[in-house]
Amino acid sequence: MTNKGRIFSGVQPTGNLHLGNYLGAIRNFVNLQHDYEAIYCVVDLHAITVWQDPKVLRANTREIAAAFLAAGIDPTKSIIFNQSQVSAHANLAWIFNCVSRLGWLNRMTQFKDKAGKNRENASTGLYAYPNLMAADILAYKATHVPVGEDQKQHLELTRDIAQKFNNDFGVDYFPLTEPLILGTSTRVMSLRDGTKKMSKSDPSEYSRISLMDGPDELQQKVRKAKTDPLPVPDLEALDDKREITADVKAERPEAVNLIGIFSTLANQTTEETVKEYGGQPFSDFKKALTDVAVERLGPIGTEMKRLMADEGHVDAVLKDGAERAAAIAEPILNEVQDIVGFLRP
Ligand code: AMP
Ligand code: TRP
Repeated sequence: MTNKGRIFSGVQPTGNLHLGNYLGAIRNFVNLQHDYEAIYCVVDLHAITVWQDPKVLRANTREIAAAFLAAGIDPTKSIIFNQSQVSAHANLAWIFNCVSRLGWLNRMTQFKDKAGKNRENASTGLYAYPNLMAADILAYKATHVPVGEDQKQHLELTRDIAQKFNNDFGVDYFPLTEPLILGTSTRVMSLRDGTKKMSKSDPSEYSRISLMDGPDELQQKVRKAKTDPLPVPDLEALDDKREITADVKAERPEAVNLIGIFSTLANQTTEETVKEYGGQPFSDFKKALTDVAVERLGPIGTEMKRLMADEGHVDAVLKDGAERAAAIAEPILNEVQDIVGFLRP
């Protein structure tokens, strides 16, 4: 049944697709496609807000499309496409550049993180990035957006833009989109440092599990993952909601991160995991984690590699997806142009 509304979400083709992307986002994309009309986008316009080698960008775009397919998104049911191929995104983004306020963008923490110390040298695209993201979502009047926790602030901005557009033009046109931040792995942390998010740009390969890691790499990375000398936390580490207490999270971030990853991969609650492994040494728990990672991620990695060797198939999926996406977005863009006062002779 596709009666709960329309979903839009995007992943940047910037390489090093990792377990955080899978558990925080793509896994939910797969589950949600049965209940919603779903549109999943490889956001290449967002990727070029920082320099991308053109050859590498093409390969990375196919890699994300292959990951979507390998994870189980059905391209005949849901739409899979790359953003640059539907011009409504860039068109609507310009209009939103004129709706959004400098003060709003100045508050975006992702810009501050990505621009780093040398802010003067960041591209203006990186600064306006959240306006483009609002355009992605609202070009389809999407009602729900599944993402990891790090995107929450961008989705609040999307609501602000929708609301200001509606107010400025005296219309009730754009929906106020709801984020779907689902599951027990909405923020997967680095395997080397439990206080840092697992990220594509971390220089250390050992900080992240790649979706294309084979059994040997998985085993090595889990074995080398940072922990502390204490055993696996037990039931006493849980609060009333049967989640790990804030104190334990603060004191043992790496241990808590591995429990979260294990629970999501094994499709079980935190409580079930600590009941089963609480008090055991981490060396044993890491063996169980390796097994479940190999079992759950292995087939996805293998299928991704197969698809990446079949460029013709992936490109055909993207082409078909772009046509279907444009068929939804173009009429919406036309209505927006009418509302704004652009003459369409
Ligand atoms: P990106 O790689 O920045 O395009 O992110 C694609 C999706 O993965 C977004 O929905 C992010 O919120 C999600 N994501 C990225 N990193 C993590 C992480 N460490 N934990 C959970 N979700 C993440
Ligand atoms: N900004 C998102 C990220 O870095 C990617 C993205 C672009 C996105 N457009 C989107 C996510 C629209 C959800 C909806 O993860």
